[in-house]
Amino acid sequence: LTGAITLDPGYKNSGSCKSEITFLDGEEGILRYRGYSIEDLAAKANFLEVSYLLIFGELPTKTQIEKFENDIRKYTLVNEEMKNIIDGFPKTAHPMGVLASLTSALTAFNPKSVNPHNEKEMYEAVCKTMGKFLVIATWTFRKSMGYPLNYYDNTKGYVENFMHLMYALPTGPYKIDPIVVQALDKLFILHADHEQNCSTSTVRIVGSSHAGLFASIASGVSALWGPLHGGANQAVLEMLEEIHKNGGDVAKFVLKAKDKDDPFRLMGFGHRVYKNFDPRATIIKKAADDVLTALGVDDPLLDIAKQLEKVALEDEYFKARNLYPNVDFYSGIIYRALGIPTEMFTVMFAIGRLPGWIAQWKEMRINKEPIGRPRQVYVGHPLREFKSMDKR
Ligand code: SDX
Repeated sequence: LTGAITLDPGYKNSGSCKSEITFLDGEEGILRYRGYSIEDLAAKANFLEVSYLLIFGELPTKTQIEKFENDIRKYTLVNEEMKNIIDGFPKTAHPMGVLASLTSALTAFNPKSVNPHNEKEMYEAVCKTMGKFLVIATWTFRKSMGYPLNYYDNTKGYVENFMHLMYALPTGPYKIDPIVVQALDKLFILHADHEQNCSTSTVRIVGSSHAGLFASIASGVSALWGPLHGGANQAVLEMLEEIHKNGGDVAKFVLKAKDKDDPFRLMGFGHRVYKNFDPRATIIKKAADDVLTALGVDDPLLDIAKQLEKVALEDEYFKARNLYPNVDFYSGIIYRALGIPTEMFTVMFAIGRLPGWIAQWKEMRINKEPIGRPRQVYVGHPLREFKSMDKR
């Protein structure tokens, strides 16, 4: 730790916390998971390695990662009765709403609460959550398409299985492109944790009441869904499509985003912490070029996104407010090139963020953090005398 961390005595129930997991520097655009730079991890590691690092604190050895992957495979079967729950949703239900419900429902089939201080129990809960969440996340897409629900294939890797679970059909073999797996590894790593953001703080505060891991993760899914948070990646694509329909007139949308009377905001721009640049956006922007070129995809929305970024970054309004592209600005372009439907973009964010949520929940419980109780400044009425109805 760089120097003594001093927190105000009230921190114990104000919602702020100490953590060893992720370090952010908003001014310098620095992001590190357990001390490793996001640039190194995104370029050299895979998603399961980074999940292990976030959750257990160290990069795994070959033996450790093989054991982790095999132990996850033990828990990828989801109780068949969960299908009765997903059958109850209309095909048009937003996947994030279905995912939040199914995640919470996992508690019904795994009622035993986890003792985070029991290493074996906690490890089993980690593997169970990593395994089952990936499966039910893809079920939300299969349901919307009217496809049969797929099972995890134990002969495939974790990220490979995402594509298998999403797109394999009983009618024949499904070939998974290694370029796609590599792109997904990078994207999931870039979304894996981000300190005390809205959804992670939600997972921590729900878990601080000693609610179970599945219930806490389900609350994080709901928080992530909002368009100001993880839902922004879907909103960015819808915005770019709108601009495309309007002849690519980016200046018109930049103007609209500055108009105080117009609720429209430039989606994928701005951040609570990064007031310089979001290092993830820099990596994803380059990955968008690389992946689309490798897949031979020519998407006009990428050029529109680049023009939009250029015009906005030259605009006094955005410069004065330190508004830069964030992690959501370019990610949807890659998801689209990988064939992921727009409605599933925030589910992709949730799959990536899962190890971060687990790691933060585990840290909060092992550190015996008190129940979350944010403070407030009361600005309401002083004491008033009650008047009966006929005197009001
Ligand atoms: C994520 O916290 C995390 O780490 C989150 C995340 C993670 O990994 O978990 O990084 C993921 O959620 C990224 C953010 C995705 N959301 C969006 O892209 C939605 C669009 N962005 C904005 O809604 C906004 O920038 C926020 C919500 C991201 C941040 O909001 P802030 O810091 O509270 O900014 P603000 O509302 O205080 O705005 C400050 C000024 C205001 O203008 P003034 O009142 O000063 O005149 O900037 C303006 C805002 O109107 N502004 C924007 C803008 N974002 C802020 N104006 C136009 N377009 C925008 N995108």
